[in-house]
Amino acid sequence: MNVKLIAIAALGKNREIGLKNDLPWSIPKEYEHFQETVLGQHVLIGRKNFESHDGDIDHTIPYILTRNKDYKTSTAQTVTSIKEALALAASDGADKVYVIGGAEIYQLALPYLSEFLWSEIDYQGPADAFFPEFLQYSWETLEEERHDGWTFRRLVKTPQNL
Ligand SMILES: NC(=O)c1ccc[n+]([C@@H]2O[C@H](COP(=O)([O-])OP(=O)(O)OC[C@H]3O[C@@H](n4cnc5c(N)ncnc54)[C@H](OP(=O)(O)O)[C@@H]3O)[C@@H](O)[C@H]2O)c1
Repeated sequence: MNVKLIAIAALGKNREIGLKNDLPWSIPKEYEHFQETVLGQHVLIGRKNFESHDGDIDHTIPYILTRNKDYKTSTAQTVTSIKEALALAASDGADKVYVIGGAEIYQLALPYLSEFLWSEIDYQGPADAFFPEFLQYSWETLEEERHDGWTFRRLVKTPQNL
C-alpha cells in the first residue's frame, strides 16, 4: 500500500493545540492555509475532533477514527485503525491521507508519518490538548515561511511501516 500519511497541525511554542475543544488562538490566515491544504483531500480525524467541528470538516473526504464500531454519521465514514483508513483511501485512488488531529490521533500516527505540515504559532498559554513530542525523529525541513503570528514549516522523514 503506497498511501502517504501527512500530519497538518498548528502548535503553540509548548506544543499546545487545543483548549476546551477549540483552538487556543484565532489566526484566520493560518486557518485558511489549513482549509486550502485539505480541501477535497482524504483526512483522518479523531472522533472528538470531528464532533467539535459539528460534523463539518471543510469539504474533505473524512475518515473518523473511533474504537466504537457502531459509531455512524451521515457525513463521514468510520474507521477503527489507521491501516483501515489507508486501505480505503488506496481503493479510492488516493496517494495521501492528511492527519488532522486531535491529540490522540497525532500521537497514534506520528511514527507512520512521512510529512508534517507544522504551523508554529506565536502562543504560549493555557491549553488542555498538546501535540506529541516529535523532534526525536530525523526530520528534514524542506520549507520554512514566516507569517504574521506564525511560522510554517514542511518537514519530511522516513515513515515506520504500519
Ligand atoms: N491545533 C490544531 O492543529 C488542532 C487540530 C486538531 C484538533 N485540535 C484540538 O485537539 C483537541 C481534540 O483532541 P483529543 O485528543 O481530545 O481527541 P481526538 O484525537 O480528536 O479524538 C480522540 C478519539 O479518537 C479515537 N481513538 C483514539 N485512539 C484510537 C485508536 N487507537 N483506535 C481507534 N480510535 C482511537 C477515540 O474515539 P472513541 O472514544 O469514539 O473510541 C478517542 O476518544 C481539541 O481541543 C481540538 O481543538 C487542534
